[in-house]
Amino acid sequence: MLTQKPTINYGLEGIYVDESAISKVDGQNGRLWYRGYSIEELADKSNFEEVSYLLIYGKLPTKTEFDEFVMKLKDRTGLPDEVKRVIRKMAPIAHPMDIMRTATSMLVMYDKDPNNRDLESTVDKIITLLAKLPSIAAAIGRFREKKRYIEPDSSLNLSENFLYMLTGRRPNKFEGKLIDLMFILHAEHSTNASTFSVLVTASTLADVYAATTTGIGTLKGPLHGGADEAALNMIKAIGDPDNTEKYIEEALEGKQKIMGFGHRVYKAYDPRAKLVRSYLEESLIKEPTDEVRRLLQIALRAEKLMIEKLGKSKGIWPNIDFLAGPLYRVLGIDSKLFTPIFVASRMSGWGSHIVEYWNNNKLVRPLEYYTGPLDVPYKPIELRQ
Ligand code: CMC
Repeated sequence: MLTQKPTINYGLEGIYVDESAISKVDGQNGRLWYRGYSIEELADKSNFEEVSYLLIYGKLPTKTEFDEFVMKLKDRTGLPDEVKRVIRKMAPIAHPMDIMRTATSMLVMYDKDPNNRDLESTVDKIITLLAKLPSIAAAIGRFREKKRYIEPDSSLNLSENFLYMLTGRRPNKFEGKLIDLMFILHAEHSTNASTFSVLVTASTLADVYAATTTGIGTLKGPLHGGADEAALNMIKAIGDPDNTEKYIEEALEGKQKIMGFGHRVYKAYDPRAKLVRSYLEESLIKEPTDEVRRLLQIALRAEKLMIEKLGKSKGIWPNIDFLAGPLYRVLGIDSKLFTPIFVASRMSGWGSHIVEYWNNNKLVRPLEYYTGPLDVPYKPIELRQ
């Protein structure tokens, strides 16, 4: 038995749990690479389908491989009727992330061989989830507004099709670029909390659907994926751009955390947020609605103040979740759908990590240092006070 308390790394801070060739986050310099390709280059030249292929298979596809991959995705974007029914039933009462989790979990029913962990079968399940999660997110948005479900349009790519299924309108070129950018930027981020939780479940040899459902549950929290919705709620609460500085100063004085700032790994400006920021500036030039203009102005003023106060001094910089919300509002997307979109795009990262982990599976089973008593005498219930 241990007599001396071991070193405990709370929240696994600073602990390496595995090797991975999927993505690299350089927190000191604010850089990110997927399979060695810089996020800036992928955001500029690639698309979500290609990035997903890259993450899952570890290489960029040839034209034939890409077409085959895209064809499989397009064939699977539709949703089973039972799934639509459950989404419709939950829509008026549950948070979209809870619906997302339930609907994703249901997909296991349509897989004839859900426990097959062969590489080909695993990738096939990941492709099914990649195709259906954006449709689930869109259906949630439709049913929340008591609108009818829109069937997928196979002429569109995955992210544009999501917008179409949500709004009933085919996005223009700029809108298509924005939504695909968000899918690319959210696709993967090494062993963050949700990816780690996916791997914990996968390590027990549970199926891909179980692991994905675990990831959705973990992503919901405001310290992780839920920060995008929480950040926009704060921006809305600020209301007027001229209230920004007072609101943030008071929140910081009250020791409140400002959602969308800070990161366990990045101690510099999150490179994903930097990319989103450049598109926000472009959106401002494109004459947004008054509501969106106000949100963008507040976001940019809050960002400036936070950098002055906490950036260089404490390494607390904007992360992608702070600026994602205003960009989604440019596209007219409701804040409750921000984290479900995160789920739909992160599926490619979660999936690639499952594939990689099962190459060399090891059950995740850490230790904890017990601090309670031992050999306590058992008292029958009638003698307890
Ligand atoms: N606003 C104000 N102070 C902050 C913030 C913030 N957003 N983030 C960290 N701090 C302070 C914190 O109060 C603490 O101060 P002190 O040393 O005086 O007690 C110090 O910085 C360290 O914070 P921590 O929470 O112990 O550090 P961590 O590495 O555990 O936290 C974090 C990382 C992301 C949980 C945290 O920065 C946070 O809560 N941020 C807000 C939520 C958020 O934006 N999450 C999204 C993360 S990025 C996207 C994703 O992966 O999901």
